[in-house]
Amino acid sequence: MTILNYLYGFLPHFLLENNRSVGSMTIRSGNFGQLQISFYVPASVKFMDNKKSLEEYRDDFPALKQLRNGKPPVYMDSACTTLVPQQIIDAINDYYTRYPGCSSGRSRHWFADEVNDRIEGNPDKGIKGSRCIVADFINAASENEIIFTLNATHAINTVALGFKFQPGDTVLITNMEHNSNLVPWLRLQKTGRIKLDYIVSNHEGIFDFDTFEEKLKNSRVRLVSMAYTANSTGVSIPAKEIIKLAHFYGAKVLLDGAQAVPHKKVDAQDLDVDFLAFSMHKMCGPRGVGVLYGKKELLGSTPQEENSGTDVIEPVFLGGGTVADVTYKDYSLLEPPKRFEAGIQNYPGQIASGATIQYLQNIGMERIAAQETKLNSFLTKELIKRYGDTGWFRILGPRDAAQRGGILSFEVHRPNAVGIAAELSEKSNVMIRDGVFCAHAYFNEQFGQGWAHPRSHAEHRMIYRVSLYFYNTIEECRVFLETLDEIFKERSYI
Ligand SMILES: Cc1ncc(COP(=O)(O)O)c(C=O)c1O
Repeated sequence: MTILNYLYGFLPHFLLENNRSVGSMTIRSGNFGQLQISFYVPASVKFMDNKKSLEEYRDDFPALKQLRNGKPPVYMDSACTTLVPQQIIDAINDYYTRYPGCSSGRSRHWFADEVNDRIEGNPDKGIKGSRCIVADFINAASENEIIFTLNATHAINTVALGFKFQPGDTVLITNMEHNSNLVPWLRLQKTGRIKLDYIVSNHEGIFDFDTFEEKLKNSRVRLVSMAYTANSTGVSIPAKEIIKLAHFYGAKVLLDGAQAVPHKKVDAQDLDVDFLAFSMHKMCGPRGVGVLYGKKELLGSTPQEENSGTDVIEPVFLGGGTVADVTYKDYSLLEPPKRFEAGIQNYPGQIASGATIQYLQNIGMERIAAQETKLNSFLTKELIKRYGDTGWFRILGPRDAAQRGGILSFEVHRPNAVGIAAELSEKSNVMIRDGVFCAHAYFNEQFGQGWAHPRSHAEHRMIYRVSLYFYNTIEECRVFLETLDEIFKERSYI
């Protein structure tokens, strides 16, 4: 009798825990009855099925399984925030249902250990923690360079408020920044702590290196803080060359990676970037968790806030979880990253962050980028064929979709151009964004302040943004195109 006769009813069954999977297998044999075997496998094993098609990954997203008016959602607003797969929801639920405690940095008990293992890792149990998973994902030199924040905005503010600027220091940004990488600097400028200056990229998004170098040479630039990928056009800056030049002139560089890290491989050490900010909610992860990567030597090492290095950032918030010891006269700080993570943390979010990254890694960042380019190229070609791109309908940024990742923003300069996003949603559940995408300054400079509130309908122009991720399909693009066509016809634009 062969082994196959014994092993009928082979039923592997995996349940995801965040950083490991509990597996169980039922083996039934004619001679010995039924045998239940349980075992632990790293979660990465669960995620190793690289043969799954992108279409199949859609199955992981409960939000895509709903219908409204008999039609499924067509979600194309991922630059705002992404959909969440069941695996991440499970990781969050797991925390609340199984070990809803604080971490063992504070308490020493069963639940605290479970939390700590999943965030900080536990080599004895073979568990890789979220902090380490994040560090490896962006190729940080150490997990101690990973600070968990609330989001990218919080991460940028942590640098803005913690950096030891001297009066007369300049911060250099681009003309395409999201408010989150503009307003914190404007605030410092208002109070006289810095001078803010910016580099204007041309219409195609080509970075102006000559002006950049001139400014680096002629003003005291302490920090260059730029969006790696602009959320309005999807164009990326040549970050590595920018960082090299900035370093040559003695400036540090903060990259706002909110629209880059979720979409392509970002290697902190290869870029030699000093600080990198991004958000989990833009990469299928939990809301309320961001990351600030900072080079070890810039995060401080002495027990005091006033570290000797002039580029070392000080923690902005202090309190529980940040200190090694306290008297009524003084306190000493914990080593980074803990000194930057004040108060009880978003444990379920931090735990789910590891699962999020493993989820993306399983798909493969190259595959994600390729799918975005494929969809964006299809949409770009179709839109230009139908409406041209220089008249009343205009695509923002370069024509070449490959330079815009998953983002396709377009201007509609026609009477009564408002309300198209809401109509797309009403008619076909197509969800895109309209407005200024938190890039007020950029659009105000392009169109003149107050452009979004013209005096007459005839002067209306509106900007709409389609933002795609790996879970979008050509079929969804067609739904968007057909519905847009219908709306344009009803408005007599075509
Ligand atoms: C380029 C860029 N930077 C920063 C942010 C802010 O991200 P968060 O709201 O997650 O802090 C966004 C969000 O849209 C963004 O697109």
